[in-house]
Amino acid sequence: MNLEQILTFRRAVRKYDAQRDLDPEKVKECIRLATLAPTSSNMQLWEAYHITDPDTLSRMAEACLGQGSTRTCKQMVVFVTRQDKWKSHAQAVLEANIREVEENSPEDRKAARIALQRQYYNGRMPFVYRRCWGLAGALRVLITRVKGLFHPVARQVSEADMRTVVHKSCALAAATFLMAMSEQGYDTCPLEGFDSLRVKKVLGLPRHCGITMVVPCGFRAPGGVRGDRFRLPLSEFYHRI
Ligand SMILES: Cc1cc2nc3c(=O)[nH]c(=O)nc-3n(C[C@H](O)[C@H](O)[C@H](O)COP(=O)(O)O)c2cc1C
Repeated sequence: MNLEQILTFRRAVRKYDAQRDLDPEKVKECIRLATLAPTSSNMQLWEAYHITDPDTLSRMAEACLGQGSTRTCKQMVVFVTRQDKWKSHAQAVLEANIREVEENSPEDRKAARIALQRQYYNGRMPFVYRRCWGLAGALRVLITRVKGLFHPVARQVSEADMRTVVHKSCALAAATFLMAMSEQGYDTCPLEGFDSLRVKKVLGLPRHCGITMVVPCGFRAPGGVRGDRFRLPLSEFYHRI
């Protein structure tokens, strides 16, 4: 399939064929492809939980409000944000970027480029990701607003903004996964209709992580897609300036 065929094939499938199962290794490969999605500052603060165990699937269906797609799917993938891992990820990305500079930068630029990387991952990342019962976020907003009086600044630094930042990147990974699944001829349905507290309980996740999307997977059953696709006219979306 070319990209347009993949995008056309992908539909939100609400009912799956009970007789046909997916190859879990292929689903895992689609999750690997999702790791190629871009993330903010390359921080990669997301995880995917691939559920194939029937008992866990039925507990997840309950946590997903009993939606038909979750009751009939053969496997499920849950996309989760892990903002709490910012320290170790910043360290790993910094080390990789320094290696890259050392291997590929001209000798006279190396020191300055490495200093910039250290400033970003040892300075900016702790500044934006550190949390302290909402106080760190409020302080960041204050500092940023003052700086913003004098020059352009990235203003989205509150605790709520940072949650959005990690959900955005995680959603890009989830979207990449949906495309990869389509390419295999596998069906999916992105969901946000779930009880996040119960989903975390079923998966044994810490309370502070975020559930971006639950994705039931399988082969579409007859009637699994509700009608023709509806989209507003392109003029609603497209604005050329
Ligand atoms: C973030 C997000 C959340 C969604 N939540 C649900 C959901 O809880 N239940 C459901 O049946 N479909 C859900 N959907 C699927 C949409 O309803 C569906 O994508 C939309 O109607 C367009 O249909 P299509 O995907 O077949 O093009 C969700 C989609 C997205 C992107």
